[in-house]
Amino acid sequence: MTTSTTSTLRYFPPMGVYETLFKFLDVCGKYMGEPGTHPWAQGFPVTSQLPNGPELPGSVSFDSSDLKYPPATGIPQLLSAITEYYNHFYDAGISEDNVCVFAGGRPGIFATVAFLPAEFEILIEETEYTPYYDLLHLLDRSHHIIPSHEGNAFQPNLDDYRQAWSTMGQGGRQFYIKSNPCNPTGVTWTGDTLRELVDFLISGEHGGLIDEAYEFFSQAGPESALKYIPNIDDTNLFVSGAATKNLQVPGMRIGWIVSSKRNIEIFRNYSSIGMGGVSRPAQLYVSQLLETARVKHARQAIAEYYDSQRQFYGHALADLGIQLFTGTGGFYHWGKLPGELNADELNRRLFEYDAAILPGRLCDMHRHGENGDSNRFMRFSFGPLLEESRQEDVEILSKCLGQQTT
Ligand SMILES: Cc1ncc(COP(=O)(O)O)c(C=O)c1O
Repeated sequence: MTTSTTSTLRYFPPMGVYETLFKFLDVCGKYMGEPGTHPWAQGFPVTSQLPNGPELPGSVSFDSSDLKYPPATGIPQLLSAITEYYNHFYDAGISEDNVCVFAGGRPGIFATVAFLPAEFEILIEETEYTPYYDLLHLLDRSHHIIPSHEGNAFQPNLDDYRQAWSTMGQGGRQFYIKSNPCNPTGVTWTGDTLRELVDFLISGEHGGLIDEAYEFFSQAGPESALKYIPNIDDTNLFVSGAATKNLQVPGMRIGWIVSSKRNIEIFRNYSSIGMGGVSRPAQLYVSQLLETARVKHARQAIAEYYDSQRQFYGHALADLGIQLFTGTGGFYHWGKLPGELNADELNRRLFEYDAAILPGRLCDMHRHGENGDSNRFMRFSFGPLLEESRQEDVEILSKCLGQQTT
């Protein structure tokens, strides 16, 4: 047999967070997140019980019937737990037929964009969740970028959305993708602003995906766009949720999309072709976490713990000369580095302490690169951090930010 060093597959690079993880592994010889590392580049939450929070079960029980193939859109227990969750907290008026379970948040988002007809132009904010960029390019999607930069304090509003729509030639069809709270900026649309976004999407007969991976991490309290969607079956809206951050279990790989029955049927058919459903034990585990009293407790504990971390690191970073643009949600700080420092140079310094941040260039949907304006920004994650690490974190940052730019 002959072997070839050239792949028959089309090459593409890893998603930005993993690019940073792989670079860290090469330089530090450690996987970021291992004990002793400072994983400020990473988007995972604390995976143990939070102060005043509910326990995270240490086991899941299942029997031989759970070793069978799962149903294509999800097991009945999880579909009903997700449905009850949105109906209880947001009066969403959905049924189990409006939900499809995926192996985490990303596969549902990927499937939505993959099956969107080519006539849709995608609208997306300039500073957004890293793999949205990969999706647009890998799937060769025509798209339009809504300004979100220092000039508008990374806070585009609905007028920017309307303007983008009006300049696009209204004959075409638009599909909006937005993380809310936004990763990396933490800017969060709530209340009337969120209602107006939903109304705009529905009345203009636009499609849209609202990615609520950080739903619980909001100073104003958790909120879902489903609260404002009168009848999801009459829309082309997709609300993406996941157990990853909100329920503190990234390793379970459970996410979901809530959409019209017609759209869920398409996901079901996709699952039958390309996925075969999602692990039953993982679905059973997450079903327990969504039990109403427990999840109510979790929503409170997350908001409380992460508000306090957001505040602590906000003050600490500002004292170190970082100009913050962070909103009121998520578990990241988004800030401009002092002087001429760029984020890759900061990482070279941080690597010496087994620490790293996410360079701003990787959240830039234009990808202007290491010397672009976006790389004067960093995303600092306090998601995985316990309160015990505060002092050491500040010491390392202080040493690395204090050095002269080379
Ligand atoms: C905005 C946003 N959406 C979705 C996800 C999905 O995460 P996962 O695929 O790990 O469930 C993440 C994780 O970082 C995220 O930040």
